[in-house]
Amino acid sequence: MKIIEVNDYQQMSQVAAEYILKKVTDNPAIHLGLATGGTPSEMYKNLIEDHKQNGTSYEHVTTFNLDEYIGVSGENPNSYRYYMDNHLFNHINIDKRKTHIPLGNTTDSQAECNRYEQLINENGIDLQVLGIGQNGHIGFNEPGTSFSSKTHVVTLAPSTIQANARFFKTIEEVPTKAITMGISTIMKSKEILLLVSGESKKDAVNKLINGEIDEKFPASVLKNHPYVTIIADKAAVSGM
Ligand code: GLP
Repeated sequence: MKIIEVNDYQQMSQVAAEYILKKVTDNPAIHLGLATGGTPSEMYKNLIEDHKQNGTSYEHVTTFNLDEYIGVSGENPNSYRYYMDNHLFNHINIDKRKTHIPLGNTTDSQAECNRYEQLINENGIDLQVLGIGQNGHIGFNEPGTSFSSKTHVVTLAPSTIQANARFFKTIEEVPTKAITMGISTIMKSKEILLLVSGESKKDAVNKLINGEIDEKFPASVLKNHPYVTIIADKAAVSGM
């Protein structure tokens, strides 16, 4: 794993956007794996800004998001579909039909997991962007998830519900279940870009770098991947 250390959140967002822009320029039909949450939001702003200024085209880009809450439709502002549309897709020239996110409001979540897993297997992901939860979760793969897991339904850990409550009016509104790419799904992508910012992630970064590879800490699986780049700010690496 290669670590690029940057000063702060702004710089992490800028360096991450530049990293992605280079990949998109090199391969205009790239298959990008994308993440939601607080961490990548400023990176998306930078991509939009670049699109306005320099006209980088996403016409041939395909995207696959990591996860989606169960029980919310794409029109619900709390859904990850809504997040992606508003933070990125509505502001660049991407073909929405090529933007894939698990459907959170289907009647058969298991069938949706199978469909999504198959779609990824058929298409492949060139570069997967990841954030990390304070407990080491990637996507919504909570501690204890099998490293061989495929796209599946998860019950969110109380700490994850707590951490994500900031995006909702009340904690009761946070969905308790989600669909997430599995750990083996994530590991199949050719390259991984992990973004980490802030002091709240410092213990997670320390565990990732200095700890064992263990299903109790999902992100540790990344040590088994041949091509991982971490962009982390000073606060995030301050616990190492
Ligand atoms: C969320 C998401 C993850 C995200 C992580 C960190 O629960 N499901 O995909 O990477 O937790 O979120 P944040 O960037 O807001 O700290």
